[in-house]
Amino acid sequence: MSNFNPADNIQDLQYFGEFGGVNPSISDSSTYTFLSAKTMFDTFEGNAEGCYLYSRHSSPSNLYLDKALAAMEGTETANVAASGMGAITPTLLQLCGNGDHIVSSRTIYGGTYAFLKNLAPRFGLKTTFVDITKLDIVEAAITPETKVLYCETVSNPLLEVADLAGLSKIAKKHNLKLVVDNTFSPLSVTPTQFGVDIVIHSLTKYINGSSDTVGGVVCASQEFINDLKNVNSGASMLLGPTMDSMRSASVMKNLRTLHIRIKQHSFNAQYLAEQFEGLGLKTVYPGLKSHPSHELYKGMINPEYGFGGMLTIDTGSLDKANELMELMQSRNLGYLAVSLGFYKTLFSAPGSSTSSEIPMEEQKEMGLTDGLIRFSIGLDNDIKRTFEMMRQCMKEVGVI
Ligand SMILES: Cc1ncc(COP(=O)(O)O)c(C=O)c1O
Repeated sequence: MSNFNPADNIQDLQYFGEFGGVNPSISDSSTYTFLSAKTMFDTFEGNAEGCYLYSRHSSPSNLYLDKALAAMEGTETANVAASGMGAITPTLLQLCGNGDHIVSSRTIYGGTYAFLKNLAPRFGLKTTFVDITKLDIVEAAITPETKVLYCETVSNPLLEVADLAGLSKIAKKHNLKLVVDNTFSPLSVTPTQFGVDIVIHSLTKYINGSSDTVGGVVCASQEFINDLKNVNSGASMLLGPTMDSMRSASVMKNLRTLHIRIKQHSFNAQYLAEQFEGLGLKTVYPGLKSHPSHELYKGMINPEYGFGGMLTIDTGSLDKANELMELMQSRNLGYLAVSLGFYKTLFSAPGSSTSSEIPMEEQKEMGLTDGLIRFSIGLDNDIKRTFEMMRQCMKEVGVI
């Protein structure tokens, strides 16, 4: 493992506002003037470094955030988008066209799954979904038409861990692009350190951390980002999932505290996972020795950021899961809500919410049970107090 430290890279960025402000100025314009018509022409040809054209292509505020997220992920550059899906779908459509094939993990965010399964085929794009933890199965699914290997570092919602180094070897051997959604594990894992080509985040989650906006980013080579933004053929430029400058300025401010938040999320989740497991609950958390990929993940993380803030428990049935979540919400232990990375704990039953796009049969096959509750553990100051209150709820509902 190298000395790469994503939080140091973010800290080392120094931006000044237009009037010497400590935050960069917000560029509140959709279009930009040119002092000469020739420069405008050159910019359309993609040749005018430092010139802005139109904010669907680039804006100064978005470029600040691009630069910071590229520094965090160790890529040449990045391109922010209006949502995580606004980063994922243009990336895949840029890399693949009619007749091409993707090998994807079957345990991915329900929206990405639905895109690959239902919408992408309309563009002639086929996907084979595999158990990403089995490298031989992944390799066997590759065909001469395969262009992309796709997965999440830690999967939503089952918290399966992808062996990024192993997948990268396969991708290089077959000349594929390895695209990884790192939404669940910012700072903890730096996918490019394992040979990943393109790293995607839903900024909506940990990176923004205050559940007040959606956002996304693609971190990649300058060449690929140029392709995405190409005025004639770029999927980001032409599909138009552009982040607003006001939003990118606010996400940028939240990014500056990400390292502190991730440490606290991880500390709290590790504590609760151990306690839940101690109560005899079926608990999944990559920081538990009982997690099938615990040792692998331990070798992948930047240790100071821990194993992340996501965990699941199995309550046995959807009714029990719902009863427990409603009670915990009424006791102010968190919100019954989808999404993750918020300062308060969020919980939901993925089978009937974020993963409901995945057909029932397939949910069963991948181990996504009705009674599963996914927790995004918050920044609680006293996690022991939280645990005692959660234990009381579990007792009352009859889960323990
Ligand atoms: C792992 C993961 N990737 C991508 C997304 C999509 O992001 P957004 O909702 O910002 O479009 C989500 C949303 O829940 C997610 O959990």
